[in-house]
Amino acid sequence: MWKPLTIAALFAAPSLQSAVGKRFAPLKFSKDGTFQISILEDLHFGESKSPTLFHEFPSANFTKDAWDSWGPEQDVNSVKVINEVLDAESPDLVVLNGDLITGENAFLENSTVYIDEIVAPLVDRGLTWASTYGNHDSSYNLSRSAILARENRWPNSRTKQMVSGRNAGVTNYYLPVYGSSNEKASGAPEMLLWFFDSRGGDYYQELDSSGNEVAQPNWVDESVVNWFETTNAELVKKYHKNIPSLVFVHIPTNASQAIQTELGINAHKEPGINDDYVLAQQGEGWCADGSNDSSCVYGGQDVAFMKALVDTPGVIGVFSGHDHGDTWCYKWDTLIPGMSVKGNGINLCFGQHTGYGGYGSWIRGSRQVLVTESKLKDMVIDTWIRLESGDVVGSVSLNSTYGEDTYPSTPDTLT
Ligand SMILES: *[C@@H]1O[C@H](CO)[C@@H](O)[C@H](O)[C@H]1NC(C)=O
Ligand SMILES: *[C@@H]1O[C@H](CO)[C@@H](O)[C@H](O)[C@H]1NC(C)=O
Ligand SMILES: *[C@@H]1O[C@H](CO)[C@@H](O)[C@H](O)[C@H]1NC(C)=O
Ligand SMILES: *[C@@H]1O[C@H](CO)[C@@H](O)[C@H](O)[C@H]1NC(C)=O
Ligand SMILES: *[C@@H]1O[C@H](CO)[C@@H](O)[C@H](O)[C@H]1NC(C)=O
Ligand SMILES: *[C@@H]1O[C@H](CO)[C@@H](O)[C@H](O)[C@H]1NC(C)=O
Repeated sequence: MWKPLTIAALFAAPSLQSAVGKRFAPLKFSKDGTFQISILEDLHFGESKSPTLFHEFPSANFTKDAWDSWGPEQDVNSVKVINEVLDAESPDLVVLNGDLITGENAFLENSTVYIDEIVAPLVDRGLTWASTYGNHDSSYNLSRSAILARENRWPNSRTKQMVSGRNAGVTNYYLPVYGSSNEKASGAPEMLLWFFDSRGGDYYQELDSSGNEVAQPNWVDESVVNWFETTNAELVKKYHKNIPSLVFVHIPTNASQAIQTELGINAHKEPGINDDYVLAQQGEGWCADGSNDSSCVYGGQDVAFMKALVDTPGVIGVFSGHDHGDTWCYKWDTLIPGMSVKGNGINLCFGQHTGYGGYGSWIRGSRQVLVTESKLKDMVIDTWIRLESGDVVGSVSLNSTYGEDTYPSTPDTLT
């Protein structure tokens, strides 16, 4: 039975004091030539007390009082999931892939404290992490910049902001990962991890002339696309090669939706849950002219980003969250009718809803990405989903025959 407890008692948080001054070396492949990433996504900490929840969960039948205890209970369960995943997988890096917090419910004075609860299991294990922010990480009472500042009080955080400007969002940056035999972790990286901010939600502490909150666009801005292209070109020039890369962005692009609706997901070739149909994507709800008056379904603003992804040799996979009921990977290698951008064999993957906050009751878990130096030469990576039950599902090799190879289908399990 749920009893009211203080937040401090719920989370035995490691002390910031003991972490300060500690330094984390650049990311490197392990001596055995592997580098494993655990993706935690859609954690949605801080669900509580807000009438917006009634809109977010229209089918739920709770009283207002029940909501007050519901939020903190979900956070306790989410911490359990994080602990189970990390115990089973011991990754080299954790990626927090957006919607860390449900900002709609935030109180101005303490909207970022949930960061400490989220990262406590990581800090306890001496793990480091890197984040992208999602559409729920911005609201009237929650600012992305404040989340970044809160994360970066911990030396374990590698989250950065490399592009400035109101339209850029915050979490646009890259991290180099050095080879196992690169003693000094210098010179050419073996792999690059790119993080993009697909924004969304509402601007912090802004109201329009009618007193309504102001919506923030929900796609990767062109200023960021330009930064990506320029920065990657500089790296190619500097190191005389295209460096194999992985991309993390909270909201998937229209390519994922077009794949789902026009090509279809095969349960044995692209194993995963495919329940969010039609899936939500960047540019959704916006018009091409940038207005947002609920008259448009999709404004096409993510075309520049999609084009940059397929035009950048080295990008192996793009990992998104946002659609809690989709967990597949698809190798996009065709021109889908209606689209202007043609896939080049890039893998578009969803993860698994990790948090107990947010919509949906699909079993919680976390996508794992295992990069092996010997396979990276052929642009091949392995991936699977570790569930809170301890089971592993959807274990596949994203190699040249992914999409043709046959795998066991993933059961559509609800918790
Ligand atoms: C909600 O719960 C109340 C009390 O248990 C019940 O009377 C009512 O029928 C429920 N409504 C729905 C839509 O399930
Ligand atoms: C913002 O936070 C203040 C202070 O806690 C609170 O009174 C207010 O209701 C919050 N506003 C929204 C829109 O959540
Ligand atoms: C945040 O502040 C609100 C209002 O003061 C309080 O009810 C809530 O318990 C606080 N949450 C946390 C996590 O400290
Ligand atoms: C459009 O703007 C309104 C008002 O700011 C907001 O409620 C709505 O969620 C926005 N739509 C999108 C897709 O962001
Ligand atoms: C977006 O995806 C839909 C399928 O869901 C497709 O019909 C449309 O052509 C795509 N639009 C663009 C601009 O790629
Ligand atoms: C890709 O991986 C699958 C699963 O391990 C394997 O069956 C298949 O032969 C591989 N394809 C190539 C070209 O190596």
